Amino acid sequence: MSETILIIGACGQIGTELTQKLRTIYGNNSVIASDIREGNEELMESGPFEIVDATDREAILKVVNKYKVTQVYLMAAMLSATAEKHPQKAWDLNMSSLLLVLDLAKDKIINQVYWPSSIAAFGPTSPKQNTPQQTIMEPTTVYGISKISGEHWCNYYHQKYGVDVRSIRYPGIISWKTKPGGGTTDYAVDIYFKAIEEGKYECFLSEDTCLPMMYMDDAVNATIQIMQADSKDIKTRTAYNLAAMSFTPNQIASEIKKHIPEFEISYEPDFRQAIANSWPQVIDDSEARKDWGWNHDYDLASMTNEMLQNIKHKNNELLGLL
Ligand code: SER
Repeated sequence: MSETILIIGACGQIGTELTQKLRTIYGNNSVIASDIREGNEELMESGPFEIVDATDREAILKVVNKYKVTQVYLMAAMLSATAEKHPQKAWDLNMSSLLLVLDLAKDKIINQVYWPSSIAAFGPTSPKQNTPQQTIMEPTTVYGISKISGEHWCNYYHQKYGVDVRSIRYPGIISWKTKPGGGTTDYAVDIYFKAIEEGKYECFLSEDTCLPMMYMDDAVNATIQIMQADSKDIKTRTAYNLAAMSFTPNQIASEIKKHIPEFEISYEPDFRQAIANSWPQVIDDSEARKDWGWNHDYDLASMTNEMLQNIKHKNNELLGLL
């Protein structure tokens, strides 16, 4: 069956690259981008775009009907650090958008839903090493509370109403096209930009804070792969653990120094340190690998190579040097 896909939050860090990849697979006009604001030129010019507030049921329904949408990827969310500053707003955005999209599937207006969970669904009482798929989950951040609650709503809609919803617990996602905003793992993106632009970086996490991370290409592939998998292979209807690599600020800095020897890092941990401390360090994603064939391509070395090359190229282009 041919799909018509709506991406809500298409201009964000993951949404931007996910939209472009889906457009290459399903065709530009079958992938409708939407966000509360306009995105980059490439995204805006490559296919249909609608301004939509992720919490506005009527607006979303209108777009779904207009294009006869069959699948929704709900990528709009407030991330961990910003959510600590606006708890109520974060809860409202993260939860009401999910429930309204799940309802569209329950009412059979759409067939399939993708919704991202996060390593933030775990908490300080979860095992930090090889964190299993099923374990104690007592998150201590607003963002994490919204993710664990959202996971259970997904599972509930699947069990009770047969809704085909699929989800992944993303680690920190690293990309060069669109920067993340308001997350705790954002340092691992900023560090590459600062390394190239200023040769130094002040990190808001301590040097030995180990967190699970992933390069954007792997995250986008995983997202599309889980959505394309046979429904019977998706055995977990909360959200799948997903992993590629784990590293500390000290380790990423050492990797950058192999390319930029004069690079300097300093540490000034702030309130985000407590958030990071509450999360796992290394995730066990064997169930995703077993159930739907997940496999990652990038490790710290290959990702660093890609990040530095692409940022340099992009900055040169902006400066008109190319
Ligand atoms: N990258 C997210 C954050 O830091 C975690 O899912 O908030």
